[in-house]
Amino acid sequence: MSTDDRTTPDPRFAFDFHAYDDPGDGSRFSTWLQVEPLCRGPEPRPDWVVTSQAAVDTELGILKTGKEADVFLLERAVPDDPGQSVVMAAKRYRDEQHRSFHRSAAYTEGRRTRRSRDARALAKGTAHGRAVAAGAWAGAEWEAMKRFWDAGLPVPYPVQIDGTEILMELVTDDGVPAPRLAQTRPEPDLLVCYLDQLRAAMSGLARLGVAHGDLSAYNVLAAGDRLVVIDLPQAVDVVANPAGMDFLMRDCRNVAAWFTARGLPVDEGELFADLVAAAF
Ligand SMILES: Nc1ncnc2c1ncn2[C@@H]1O[C@H](COP(=O)(O)OP(=O)(O)OP(=O)(O)O)[C@@H](O)[C@H]1O
Ligand SMILES: [Mg+2]
Repeated sequence: MSTDDRTTPDPRFAFDFHAYDDPGDGSRFSTWLQVEPLCRGPEPRPDWVVTSQAAVDTELGILKTGKEADVFLLERAVPDDPGQSVVMAAKRYRDEQHRSFHRSAAYTEGRRTRRSRDARALAKGTAHGRAVAAGAWAGAEWEAMKRFWDAGLPVPYPVQIDGTEILMELVTDDGVPAPRLAQTRPEPDLLVCYLDQLRAAMSGLARLGVAHGDLSAYNVLAAGDRLVVIDLPQAVDVVANPAGMDFLMRDCRNVAAWFTARGLPVDEGELFADLVAAAF
């Protein structure tokens, strides 16, 4: 056998090879089927959710850098199938080292970490501990979003969670990402309509026994005439958490102050009393 025979394969064994690897250009194959079923959003699923194994995820850019997470625009689409294409919001939590803001331990009081290695790492503040904390906040937001969605409350549809990344419905207005309520100056009629919606959302939460815990016009999106509440990882149990009532009161104060400043007076004490009544 000559050297040539060994290096040049018989053409009958040659075939076109495509690596089953991410497509490159910042895209990846859809992670939908990689995540456990429990890490996928609740059923019935909205029909815009792309579940095909052939889908590719492409990052379209950053939407917003927040205090503890960055939100990206992510397209999930089946190449050459315009019917299967959606742009979602991908919220990625940073580990504690890369945050500019640390949630107070008061939020997590009463919550438990099941794995003792994780609990020890959290307590010691090791690198593993910081990663666990980022995953825990993502997990807490995921659970809250699913629960609130199932209860019919106005939150983005939770598509999937993969470690520290949550994919969710992108809330839009006229095809572009919706502004925060704080950036809007609604006409009087719309302002009343917004207040009704926010009150209803807060009562819905109270009926589940929870307060948002960081509610303000910065964590509510205005999708045309519809409001959507976001940023849920710190949702607190108003009964079991010793500080639950304080968080509920603070939510009421923020909401009342914003509407009052926009010309629709809201009494924070009355709002609080209504919500406490709904919670018990
Ligand atoms: N589902 C969504 N649809 C549209 N925009 C979104 C969505 N989720 C988040 N955003 C945008 O990203 C911003 C940050 O999201 P979020 O409040 O959940 O994260 P955060 O880290 O707490 O940010 P911040 O520190 O600004 O509060 C929001 O204010 C909003 O502008
Ligand atoms: Mg926020």
